This record gives sequence, C-alpha cells and structure tokens, in this order.
Amino acid sequence: MTDHKAKLTIGPNKPAIDLNILDGTLGPSVIDVTGLQKQGYFTYDPGFMSTAACESKITYIDGDKGVLLYRGYPIEQLAEQSDFLEVCYLLLNGELPTAAQKNQFNKTINNHTLAHEQIRSFFNGFRRDAHPMAVMVGVVGALAAFYHDSLDINNPEHRTTAAFRLIAKMPTLAAMCYKYSIGQPFMYPQNHMGYAENFLNMMFSTPAEKTSPNPVLTRAMDRIFTLHADHEQNASTSTVRLAGSTGANPFACISAGIAALWGPAHGGANEAALNMLREIGSEDRIDHFIKRAKDPNDNFRLMGFGHRVYKNYDPRAKVMRTTCHEVLDEVGLHDSPLFRIALKLEKIALEDDYFIQKKLYPNVDFYSGITLSALGIPPAMFTVIFAIARTVGWISHWNEMISSPDYRIGRPRQLYTGPTERNFVPIDDRK
Ligand code: CMC
Repeated sequence: MTDHKAKLTIGPNKPAIDLNILDGTLGPSVIDVTGLQKQGYFTYDPGFMSTAACESKITYIDGDKGVLLYRGYPIEQLAEQSDFLEVCYLLLNGELPTAAQKNQFNKTINNHTLAHEQIRSFFNGFRRDAHPMAVMVGVVGALAAFYHDSLDINNPEHRTTAAFRLIAKMPTLAAMCYKYSIGQPFMYPQNHMGYAENFLNMMFSTPAEKTSPNPVLTRAMDRIFTLHADHEQNASTSTVRLAGSTGANPFACISAGIAALWGPAHGGANEAALNMLREIGSEDRIDHFIKRAKDPNDNFRLMGFGHRVYKNYDPRAKVMRTTCHEVLDEVGLHDSPLFRIALKLEKIALEDDYFIQKKLYPNVDFYSGITLSALGIPPAMFTVIFAIARTVGWISHWNEMISSPDYRIGRPRQLYTGPTERNFVPIDDRK
C-alpha cells in the first residue's frame, strides 16, 4: 500500500471519500474500493474490464507490450528452455526446482497417473458421440467420489495431493475420452514416459499396435501444455476461484473451470478456429470471410484473432507459430489446403486496416488449433488439451486463494434495474 489515496466525490454537498491506492510489483495500481459498500455504494464493471478481483503472485500479463510471466519468468524462456512439469512445479511452488526437486516432482506426478479402475465404467454412461468436454466436466467432478483422502480444503497436505492427482490424471482421463469416442480400448499410462509423450501414447497407441513417440511432436505437445498452463484471472480461473471460495472440493472446482473453458470465446477458440478454416474451405473464399468479420451487422468473428488482454502480439502466439511450422514440416503438411488457407488468412488479417486498428492479432489458439490438427488430434479434443494444461494454473490459483488471509466467499453485487416492489396479482385478475 502507498500513502497516496484516491478521493471520490459523490454530489456537491458530501465529503469526499478517501480510497487507498494499492501498488503491485508490476502493472497498474488499483483503487481499493472495499470500504465503499459501507458508504452505500457498489462499483459497476460488467465484464470486469477495470476490476482486480484478487491479489496474486502467480502470473503477470502486460497486454500492451505482449508480455507474459509465470512467477516472473518470461513465457518465451520457459517454452524454449523448460518443460511442462517443471513449469507445473514453478506455478505451484513459486520457484524453479533444483535437479533433485524436479526428479522427485516428476516421480510423484507419475505415481498418480492411473485413474481409479472404476472410473473406466463411468465412461459407459456417456454416448459415444458426446463432446469430450461434456465428459470431462462429469468425470473430473466425479473424482471427488473416488479420492476422499484429498477433499479437506483446510488441510495443506490434502490440497497438495489433490493438485498432484489432478495434474497427473487429466491426460489419462482426456485420452480415455478420445478412446471412448472412437471405440478403442483405454490405454493405461506408462510411467517411464514423459508427460506429453505419455499423453500422446495413450491417445494413439492401441494394445494391438504401439506408436513410437516422435520427439518433434512430443516437444510440440509439451510446449502447447506450457503455453496454456496459466493466464492470470481469465474466465475459467476466475470461475475456479469463485467456486473454491465457497469451500467446494478441488475436483468440483476444476470441473467448474473446465465448464467455463469450454466456451468459444475462451478455450473453445482453437476448435472454433479450425472449424472456421474448414468452413472457409478454399483460398478464394477468404476475402468473403474477412468482409463478414468486418461487417458490424454480421456477428461472425475471425476465430483465433483478438484477445481481451493482449492488444499486441500474444507472446504465446509467437512461440506457437514457430512450433506450428516445425510440426507442419515434420508431418509434411505445409502444403495441405487447410494450412494454406490458415497461412493466407493470417497474412491478410495482419495487413488489413480493420484488424490493425482494432489490434486484433492472431492469438495462441489460432496456431495451437492448426498444430494440434497436424498432430492428428481431432478438433473436439482441442479444448480438452487446453484443460489438461490449464489445470495447474487453476489449482495454483485455488491454493493461493485458500492460503490467503483474505479468503472469503466471492459474492458480487449488482445494479438492479428490474421492477420496484409490487403486489402479487391472482391469476384470474391478470390481463
Ligand atoms: N474478428 C472480428 N472482429 C473482432 C474480433 C474478431 N475475432 N475480435 C474482436 N473484434 C472486434 C469487435 O467486433 C469489436 O469491434 P467494435 O469496436 O467495432 O464493436 C472490437 O473488435 C473489440 O471487440 P470486443 O468483443 O469488445 O473485445 P473483447 O476484448 O471483449 O473480446 C475476444 C476478446 C477474445 C472475446 C474477441 O477478440 C473474440 O471473440 N475473438 C475470437 C475468439 C477467440 O479467438 N478467442 C480466444 C481468445 S485467446 C484464448 C484465451 O486466452 O482464452
């Protein structure tokens, strides 16, 4: 807190209200409005455009400069020099691990990769054509029914065990969703494999035929996990915090996060971006879709473009773009019609005045959709992969919130504009 204050004057004859100004280590200072309620006012900020909902030490974004830091480390450095499990350790604990700590952490996560055997039968309750996010919302929420020894949110050991379980089991459950949808047997995790390699193995191997992991593709998968691991107070993380603020168990909270992530304006964007490329269908139709995106009377948007926070190139998109090209080269898809449409669309949008003026750059999901598709992953699984990656971010924020001395139920207020009080009218008297 600084000694400078904001003064709020409401009406000519009322004394000004002093509001504290709080400074973070980076980013804009915030006006502390917690005392306003006692003065009979709420603040109004639909979409939370101007609201810091919490204090956090985990992730920092400067949207104008295109900066993303996990615990102070730039995302580009982590994507280049680290790996997903090391990033998980960093997000959860605040510091990079030593070699011994890293080794132990990897072992611990590997020890939790198996899902309870009865969860296999849980899948049979779903239609084969169910969207995998619908299945994930159900199955992850159901973990609370299987792991009773990590549900006490006031016990830090329980919280840590729940974090390990969630990070470790998400790839197993995600691959089970996919296998169920295509009618293949579930593959068990292989604990000698790395995190991304294990996931790809559970996705693409069958008991009849093992796939051998391709290091370029495995590295790309790991990088996608790293880039999506956290993004400060986005819609799904805020959902996890709000659900967790009630004291709900961690599996229920992460299930709530998965539900929020599913929307096309958030995690569903990479699936929506690929579906859009398919809808465009050929290079000569791109102009028509660009026109539609610019038409104020048409609600069509170029999926994979724009961001609520980044008004500059999303730093994750830069890394993802490089990875995307590496994967396209590796699988020999650079010249496929879909990827040619994507690259042309990217070029046109980057040069178009509408997109330049509104600062609508391709976001990470534009490139991750293309990359995942080249990895052989079906679009319906894209958001599930985002959920695997974001689980560590969600659980880090959940843990931070519960450990905070300010921990209390989240309860926003409203500006009510409905009818004033009126008397009930019996049905026979209504007109
Ligand atoms: N295509 C065309 N126009 C757009 C687009 C787009 N993708 N995105 C924003 N605009 C226009 C919008 O019509 C508006 O124009 P005007 O000022 O004339 O009304 C202006 O740009 C500002 O848009 P906004 O909706 O106020 O911006 P926002 O910050 O509320 O929305 C967004 C951000 C990501 C929801 C939006 O850009 C969008 O819908 N993008 C497509 C979906 C997408 O790719 N989402 C993934 C985001 S990255 C993943 C994540 O971090 O979750």
